[in-house]
Parts: sequence; C-alpha cells; structure tokens
Amino acid sequence: MPQLKPLNIGLVGYGFMGRTHSNGYKRVNDFFDLEYRPILKAVCGRSEANAKAFAEKWQYESYETDWKKLVARKDIDAIDICTPNDSHAEIAIAAAEAGKMVLCEKPLARDMKESLPMVLAVEKAGVKNTVWYNYRRAPAVTFAKQLIDQGKLGRIFHYRANFLQDWTISADLPQGGAGLWRLDAASAGSGVTGDLLAHCIDTALWLNGSITTVSAMTETFVKERKHTLTGKVEPVGIDDACAFMCRFENGSLGLFESTRYARGHKALYTFEINGENGSLKWDLHDLHRLQYFNYGDEGPLRGWRSIHVTDSDHPYMKHWWVPGLQIGYEHTFVHQVADFLQDLASGKPTSPTFREALETQAVCDAVLDSAEVGQWQTVVPA
Ligand SMILES: NC(=O)c1ccc[n+]([C@@H]2O[C@H](COP(=O)([O-])OP(=O)(O)OC[C@H]3O[C@@H](n4cnc5c(N)ncnc54)[C@H](O)[C@@H]3O)[C@@H](O)[C@H]2O)c1
Repeated sequence: MPQLKPLNIGLVGYGFMGRTHSNGYKRVNDFFDLEYRPILKAVCGRSEANAKAFAEKWQYESYETDWKKLVARKDIDAIDICTPNDSHAEIAIAAAEAGKMVLCEKPLARDMKESLPMVLAVEKAGVKNTVWYNYRRAPAVTFAKQLIDQGKLGRIFHYRANFLQDWTISADLPQGGAGLWRLDAASAGSGVTGDLLAHCIDTALWLNGSITTVSAMTETFVKERKHTLTGKVEPVGIDDACAFMCRFENGSLGLFESTRYARGHKALYTFEINGENGSLKWDLHDLHRLQYFNYGDEGPLRGWRSIHVTDSDHPYMKHWWVPGLQIGYEHTFVHQVADFLQDLASGKPTSPTFREALETQAVCDAVLDSAEVGQWQTVVPA
C-alpha cells in the first residue's frame, strides 16, 4: 500500500459538528481509496479541560484554546470551522490569509454582508474551500441529482421543501450560550431561515437551479427569553418559523417551510419535485430511500416506487456494505471528506464552494427582507 499524503486538520469547535467531522476524517480512508489521509493534528476550544478531553477521546494529537494560535501553526494544512455562525467569518478570513484550506460549517455566516468577504478571502488566497451542506451527499439525494440531470423529470413545475422541528416550544428555554446559541440572533444571525431553510435552499439550488424572487412570512412565537449569558429576560430576535414561496430561473415554482414549533417532528427534512415526466420525493427520516414516479410506466402498474438506494451502482454505495444494507446520517460527512480529498488530489473545487454557498446566503437574506417588508424581493447574488 503506497504511503498516503497527510492532510493536517485543525478543527475549531468540538460540539455536534466537531464530532460528525472528526468521525468523517477518521473513517474515510477505511472505506475510500484516496491519495490523502486526514491527520487529526489539533482541536481548538475555549475551555482547556474540554478541548483536552475531546483531543484524548477523538485522538487529536494536540489542542489549542485560541483559534488564532491554531491558524498560525505551520503544521496545519486545513482549518475546519465548527463554531456558531458569528465566528465563521473571522476564522475563515484569517485561515485563508494564512494560506490554509478552509472547510466551513453552514450557513457561511450570519448574512451576505458578512459572507462576501469570506468568499473574496479564499479566492484571493487561492485556497481550497468548501461548506458543509452535507445533505447533498446522502446517496438518495445525489441519486436525485443524477436523475434530474439525465432529464428523467423533464420540465420542472414545482419544488417543495420542509424542515420541521419542535424543540423550542417551551417558553422556559433560555436563549444564548452553549447549546442554545441558535436562539440568540446575535450569535446565529437568524432562526430557522439560516439554520434549517439554508439546507433546503442549498439542495434546491443544486437540484433545480437559481431562485430569482421570493415572498416570505416569519413569526417569533416566544418573544422574550432569558439570556443564558446576561441572566436577563431579553427580546428574541430570531425567526421561530418561516414560510416562503419563490420562482426559480427555470420557470418552476417553489414552496418552503421551516419551524421549530411542529410538535412531534424532530428533524423532518423533506423535499418533492414535480416534473412533466415524473416526480421525486425524499425524506430525511428514511434517508436511504428515494421515491420516484415515472409517468412513462405502463397503465395499471403506474405508481410511486420506493427505491432503496443501496446498490453498488448508486452514488457512494460501492464503498460501503453489500446491496440492501443501508447507511445513515454520519456517512454524509464521510462522503464530503472523501470528495474533498479526491478533489484535492485532482485539483478540482469541492461543491458547494464558498462562492456557491453565497447564493444560498443571498436567498436567505431575500427571504428575511421579504418577511420584514411584506413584499416580494428579488434575490441579489453578489
Ligand atoms: N451541516 C449540518 O447539518 C449542521 C448541523 C448542525 C450544526 N451545523 C452548523 O455547525 C456550526 C456549529 O454547530 P453545532 O451544532 O456543532 O454547535 P455546538 O454548540 O454543538 O458546538 C459549537 C462549538 O463551538 C465552540 N466555540 C464557540 N465559540 C468558539 C470560539 N470562539 N473558539 C473555539 N470554539 C468555539 C463551542 O464551545 C462548541 O464546542 C454552526 O454553524 C451550525 O449552523 C451544521
């Protein structure tokens, strides 16, 4: 076995995403044949005890408590940003200026204004970059992309997506701080729009092309919450729920809804696309299946088929088990690492790049603007 080239990773943030990414780096070479091997060089977190404990548990060689020190280290090739949204821009720009590759969690930042300098920084430095819109890399979603690109649906009429949760219904839940920064607009930028709809929008742009105009409504159901950091009851600045309709450049119509107040739903991301010759449906709770309706099927047998996307000729699946045995959520991150390393070897960009993720940000901004002014808004890409 030839010696693999090392790619030294510096991870910032050891929460939920810090774990999914670390798992991706650790497992990728066991399943994919690649020129590169990620080396877990250092993890960075503000609490020394936690950073040390994470480094030991996940087998990082070292830890830092200041991301600036991590970025300055000569032995780090790539900075992976797994911190809340308000720190993405500062870390990504510094990392690019230090000549590091940058892998950044979504959304790129809190809004377009903050995101554009990140795009310019990675482009100016010429460093490889990607944003972790991981759902693209669920095999069934990648398969949907292949079917659409093959023209199986024909002309597209409708795109529909939902992302439903129910974890913020209690008015006693505080905002801000560890675990709850998503409820604090200063940290998150927005509520469900940047957190959940951003995923739906990224997938939609990838599968169905650009969105041109949007009309949105948002609601903040709980208007004041105690802030964990100040201890005071403060106004809530995030959107608890958002629904918008839109027009795509290809002439199709879109409907999107997201909320954290849909009692009974934990993370129900679904999308459906209706075309002239067929339709596709996907559901995160059943992520290894793709529903397909083919209008070309013969008369009485015509109906929806539920395709178990686990055959070796389905995207990514030849790297895993045997046909019929499914994979899950964590594998979307393994796939993103595999694609990143493959693209690094062949000198290709890894989608979505910062520039591509900026379009998602432009749609999010237009959605929030539309909800605020109560009018249709044109999406203004940078
Ligand atoms: N791709 C996805 O499906 C997905 C899912 C969840 C979260 N995210 C995104 O990932 C990012 C992190 O979310 P999470 O759920 O992992 O949050 P989390 O709260 O679980 O973890 C955030 C981590 O960042 C650390 N941190 C905060 N500020 C820091 C700083 N200045 N320096 C170093 N560490 C710092 C925290 O201590 C914590 O370890 C967010 O941008 C979020 O939108 C993406």
